Amino acid sequence: MDNTDGGALTAGARAHSNIALAKYWGKRDSALNIPAVGSISVTLDALYTDTTVSFTSDLTQDEFTLNGELQPSGQVSLRRVGDALDRVRKLAGLDRAATVSSVNNFPTGAGLASSASGFAALVVAACAAAGVAASPRELSVLARRGSASAARSIFGGFVELHTGASEDGSDSFAEELLDGAAWPLSVIVAITDESAKPVSSTEGMQSTSASSPFYPAWVADAPSNLDRMREAILARDFATVGELTEHSCLALHSLMFTTRPALIYWNAATVAAIHAVRAVRDGGIPVYFTIDAGPQVKAVCLPQNADTVAEALSAVPGVRAVIRSGLGPAARVLGTATAGTL
Ligand code: ADP
Ligand code: DP6
Repeated sequence: MDNTDGGALTAGARAHSNIALAKYWGKRDSALNIPAVGSISVTLDALYTDTTVSFTSDLTQDEFTLNGELQPSGQVSLRRVGDALDRVRKLAGLDRAATVSSVNNFPTGAGLASSASGFAALVVAACAAAGVAASPRELSVLARRGSASAARSIFGGFVELHTGASEDGSDSFAEELLDGAAWPLSVIVAITDESAKPVSSTEGMQSTSASSPFYPAWVADAPSNLDRMREAILARDFATVGELTEHSCLALHSLMFTTRPALIYWNAATVAAIHAVRAVRDGGIPVYFTIDAGPQVKAVCLPQNADTVAEALSAVPGVRAVIRSGLGPAARVLGTATAGTL
């Protein structure tokens, strides 16, 4: 790969966010960031992160600019990026600091999976810049170390992340379950609050596993839900996928409500949007809601019903914006060039 210029090794990448239909929450190994249960998501076309990584001999420390803001030293977001870069540097045998610039085209830290698209884009760009020829599976493991949901954003369409059994997490990777084009669903995202959540997903799930009396039941119940979700997707059984999706979402939020101190990511508009989705469904249109660690509601429906669902969610008091998405592609390198020109 000819990506050197003036001592810089540079590459850019785009990765799309995803929304889990069968969710994970909690880690079986926090240090290695291995999820406690498996999960299944869809990658979202409309929400993505663009990241440029440049390893350069001019710097002594990594620099990370997120959405145009240089992250101060000591900030957790910089530390997480630096740790991900360290893993790539080790594979490449590279001893250079990097400058990283990343932009999310949607609100950051607000329950729309910016950590998923962010760490997937980061590892794809960093490996390309450093000349590491990683397979999609290896990229997925690298992305998972940054943020578990990021393992899924390496792939497009319907994606499963395995919890695995090995102590080192080498079998905790994601893989494509079904190509998005084979079953093109729509996801309508209702934004109720763009601000970053008060408790990050990483902190929230640590607190849940330490304090919710429901946590052991969640871990015990997850494998059968996951199996049923996988079968329903492969059978293109939308009603069953939808029912399992809402069940997984409400089980997750029950865990959050019973965490001490309680995690209540919802606001009044979140609840109103849930009822709006149920009302549309009662009117005969198959549509199902899901919600991550944040106040935004995603409605999963068939493409022919996307207009009706988007209109219904736009009319909900407190819904500030509605984003329509199809299923998105895998993470990819955008190009290699001189630093700053991507
Ligand atoms: P979200 O719901 O958006 O995924 P999380 O709390 O899981 O929220 O993750 C938010 C964190 O992810 C941010 O505080 C930051 O550390 C990291 N992050 C977000 N966007 C990016 C990005 N583009 N590149 C690297 N890290 C990112
Ligand atoms: C509710 O994967 O963002 O979206 O690995 O600590 O960064 P970290 O957490 P993250 O948590 C995602 C939680 C979820 C459920 C899911 O995506 O499966």
